[in-house]
Amino acid sequence: EVPADMAGRHVVISAGGTREPLDPVRFLGNRSSGKQGYALARTAAARGARVTLVAANTTLPAPAGVDVVPVETAAQLREAVVKAAGDADAVVMAAAVADFRPAVYAPGKIKKRNGADPDPVALVRNPDILAELSTDRPRAGQIVVGFAAETEDALANGRTKLARKRCDLLVVNEVGEHRTFGAEDNEAVVLGADGSETPVPYGPKEALSDTVWDLVALRFP
Ligand code: C5P
Repeated sequence: EVPADMAGRHVVISAGGTREPLDPVRFLGNRSSGKQGYALARTAAARGARVTLVAANTTLPAPAGVDVVPVETAAQLREAVVKAAGDADAVVMAAAVADFRPAVYAPGKIKKRNGADPDPVALVRNPDILAELSTDRPRAGQIVVGFAAETEDALANGRTKLARKRCDLLVVNEVGEHRTFGAEDNEAVVLGADGSETPVPYGPKEALSDTVWDLVALRFP
C-alpha cells in the first residue's frame, strides 16, 4: 500500500529530450527516452499528488490521472514548465534540454550542393530553465530538483552544478553508451543543497523516483 503523503500537492515534471529544428525535416536531439520522468510522474500520482508532466518527444503511454503537456523544443518546454510551476509545490527537471539550438531555422529543406563542402551549423545558447526556476521561484518554499548525467567525476561535477543552478536537490548519474539512456534501471546519488548525499543503488527508475519524492517531501515547508 502506497501512503498518500503527497495528497494536496501539485508537482511539475519535465521528461524526455528536446528537439531543436534545423529545417522542416531535421533537428538536433538527444537520446533521452523519458522513462525516468514518467516513473517520477507515476510514483507521485500514486502518492496522491496532482501531476503535470511536460513531455518532450516521448512515445510512452500517458500515466493514468496525469496531465500530460507535449512539447518539442526547449523554448516550448520552458513556457509549459513556467506556466505550470506557478502553483507547484515542487518542480523536477528530468528532461534532457538542449543547451544550444541552431542560430537560424531554414524554412525550406537544406539542400546539398554537388561537390561543395557542407555549411557549418551555427548554434546559440538556450536559457537554462532549471537555473532560472531555482533563482526566481514563482512560489515561496517551492522545491526544485535537477538531474545531471555525467560521464566522469560525477560527484564533484554534481556538487559544482548544484551550486551553480541553485536547486535544492540534484540527481547525479554516470552515463555511458549503454547506461541510463533508454534503460529500465538507473543508479544515482541525490545531492542536497544542505550537503546531504543519498546514494540510490542500481534498480528500477521507480525506486529512484520514490527516493526523490521522499527527499522532496522532507523539504516541503
Ligand atoms: O547543465 P546540465 O545540462 O547538465 O544540467 C542538467 C539539468 O538542467 C537537468 O535537470 C535539465 O533538465 C536542466 N536543464 C535546463 N535547461 C537547459 C539545460 C538543462 O533546465 N537549457
